[in-house]
Formats: sequence, structure tokens, C-alpha cells
Amino acid sequence: MGKLDGKVAFITGAARGQGRSHALRLATEGADIIAVDICEQIDSVPYPLGTPEDLAQTVKEVEGTGRRIVAVKGDVRERSQLRAALDQGLERFGRLDIVVANAGICPWEDSTLCSGFVDGTDVDLIGVLNTVAVSLPHLKAGASIIVTGSTAGMMKGTTEAIGNTGGVGYSWAKQTIARYTETLALQLAEHSVRLNAIHPTNVNTNLLHNASIYKAFRPDLDNPTREEAEPALATLQPMPTPYIEPEDVSNLVAFLASDESKWITGQNIRVDAGSMLKGERAAF
Ligand SMILES: NC(=O)c1ccc[n+]([C@@H]2O[C@H](COP(=O)([O-])OP(=O)(O)OC[C@H]3O[C@@H](n4cnc5c(N)ncnc54)[C@H](O)[C@@H]3O)[C@@H](O)[C@H]2O)c1
Repeated sequence: MGKLDGKVAFITGAARGQGRSHALRLATEGADIIAVDICEQIDSVPYPLGTPEDLAQTVKEVEGTGRRIVAVKGDVRERSQLRAALDQGLERFGRLDIVVANAGICPWEDSTLCSGFVDGTDVDLIGVLNTVAVSLPHLKAGASIIVTGSTAGMMKGTTEAIGNTGGVGYSWAKQTIARYTETLALQLAEHSVRLNAIHPTNVNTNLLHNASIYKAFRPDLDNPTREEAEPALATLQPMPTPYIEPEDVSNLVAFLASDESKWITGQNIRVDAGSMLKGERAAF
């Protein structure tokens, strides 16, 4: 018996990283999975996004748990693609109980004026709104929506920095998600549908492990390596680690998806090894 037996979860960004981990964890708890991923590159993103092979690997791992999965290539920026993906899943499974709006990018390159900002906010904010929007018509009492923010949206000064428009857009999108969570959760409450946000610190995925992030943490070096960046990554968290693992976030996703959290809604919950306790917090 799993705590999500008989339930169906819609997960974006499920080809790799945290999204794959969430899919696997929710399947282990008994849920069938509707998985979406863009499976192609976005120009402003300086590290590899998910591929069709990655999404196939998620399918293999979920099926390995004995649960079913419908996996579809789709871009969260395009509401019609999300609706089409969800419809495929609904046709197979007939219901929707859990929504995990996880897909996200950390864009770092401007090819045209503020294109990093545009891509970051399109994926990290509009993509979340789109995911929730296409899901709401299918949700019934007891459903749980989980959206992914970041402690980057809570740090002082991140939206006021000059330059790196993608980083600023990322932080602003994540900050807005925190307010959105409280605002929409109040409207959903009387329908017994819950909405909560998870805000991780550094997580051990491609979004963190790339040259741009290493350089941001080690501006004193030209081309910092992972080994050179890790001590700096560790300074963010007072608990002794440079980053947490995707599974650490999936543990909270599974709890928020289940009835164990049935009276918890509108919360912005950090999984941050204490990082926002250090006096650098602007909100939440
Ligand atoms: N890794 C970190 O340090 C960290 C920290 C805080 C928050 N987050 C957030 O966690 C979430 C998951 O990121 P991750 O760490 O697993 O990174 P990741 O790059 O490993 O995975 C992100 C996945 O989302 C997919 N994706 C990107 N744009 C998409 C789009 N437009 N449509 C559909 N799918 C798309 C990618 O292809 C990829 O498979 C993101 O929202 C991210 O902002 C990450």
C-alpha cells in the first residue's frame, strides 16, 4: 500500500533532475504519472535541458515501479501543448489528483535585448500558471497542486541586480510564485483543493552544475571547476552541504501530494538546509 494508491499526477519537467525524481517517488507511492518535458534546448540556457532519451529513461524507471506513465514532449510556455499532453493522460487514466509544476530554467545568455529575462519569466512563471490553468478544470476535492519556486526568489537584492537579465527574471518569477501561492490557495480552499510551493536551495542537477553557476559563485576564477565551486556553493547553507539531492525535494512533494498534509495549503516551504535563516531573506 502506498500513500498515493489510485491517484494520478501531472508533472512538468519530468525528463530529468527533480522532475524525474518526483515522478519516480510518486509512482513508488502508487500514483500513475502524466509526464511532460520540452526535450529540446532554449537558446538562453547555457546547460543541457532534457532530451527525448532522458524522458524515455523516466518512463522506464516509472514503469519499473509497476505504475503506468504517459510521457509527452511539450513546452510549458504553450498552454495548448500542455492541454494536449494532459488530455492524453486523462484519456488513459480518467482522473487527475496531483499537479507538480516543476519545469524551470536558469537562463544566463541574452541574444537580444533582455531575452534571458523573457525566457526565464516565460518558463518559470508563465509555465507554472499555464500548468495550473489547464489542470484546474479536472481537479476535485482532495486534489493537491505543488509548484516549484526557489530560495533565489527570497534573497535580498536578486531582483534589483543590473545585468544577467535571466538571473533577475528567474528570481522575480520565483518571488511572484510565492505570492501567487498564497493568493490562489485562498480561492481554492473552499473547494478543498490545496496549493503549496516548495522553495529549494542548491539542488544537485544540471541547473546548478554548469559553468555559469560556478562562475557566479567563484567570480575570482576565469573557469572554475566543480571542485573549485563546491566550497563556495556550501557557503549558502549553514548546514554542512554544498547542495541537496532531488530526492530530498521529492520527499516533501510526496507529503504535500498525500492526505497526510490535508490541512496544509497556501504555504511556501523551504527545503534549504537553513540558507534563508542567515539574514539574507527579503520575503517569506
Ligand atoms: N537545481 C537547483 O539548484 C534549483 C534550486 C532551486 C529551484 N530549482 C527549481 O527546480 C525546478 C527543477 O529544476 P532542476 O533542478 O530539476 O533542473 P533540470 O535542468 O535538471 O530539470 C529541469 C527540467 O525541466 C525541463 N524544462 C525546461 N524548460 C521547459 C519547458 N519550457 N517546458 C517543459 N519542460 C521544460 C527541462 O528539459 C528539464 O528536464 C525548476 O523549477 C528550478 O527552477 C532548482
